[in-house]
Amino acid sequence: MRFAIFLAGLMLTVAQAGYAADLAAGKKVFTKCRACHAVGENAKNKVGPHLNGILGRPWGAVEGFKYSSGKDGTLISLKEAEPRVWDVETLSAYLRKPKGVIPRSKMEFPGLRDDADVTNVIYYLAQFDAEGNEVDPDAVLDALAATD
Ligand code: HEC
Repeated sequence: MRFAIFLAGLMLTVAQAGYAADLAAGKKVFTKCRACHAVGENAKNKVGPHLNGILGRPWGAVEGFKYSSGKDGTLISLKEAEPRVWDVETLSAYLRKPKGVIPRSKMEFPGLRDDADVTNVIYYLAQFDAEGNEVDPDAVLDALAATD
């Protein structure tokens, strides 16, 4: 009996740690993006645009950032052909293979090979709203899924 209680306690701890681990793992994956992208309070544009509120943000929406534009296959030309929003689907595809989604993207990044890295970094980014405040990532992703 005592063992059963111990086991139940252990399982609860593991379940809670699993939830936190996703955010922590996503934060770790974001170290690959950090040279070019900032997120959170006072995030500024670097080589790439800041990523606050990226889940649900229209493509190429940061004022003052010079996105790839002009020719076919650039971020702005694709967006002009059809309005687009960064959701889990487009973001996953882009982070796996940037040039597969935006052939002439300025983002010099080969892509993430591990599906779990893609999921975790999206989860990490979902917790920053447009002002860079930390919010509940689940609520952001649920709200976005409801608009699809
Ligand atoms: C070597 C620099 C570099 C790295 C590393 C990099 N990016 Fe980018 N990123 C860019 C640039 C430059 C752009 C603008 C692309 C364009 O204009 O075609 C961009 C664009 C983006 C966009 C579209 C933003 C918008 O406003 O439409 C997202 C989302 C994004 N990057 C996410 C990431 C994530 C997440 C990572 C890490 C897994 C990452 N990037 C790694 C440079 C980088």
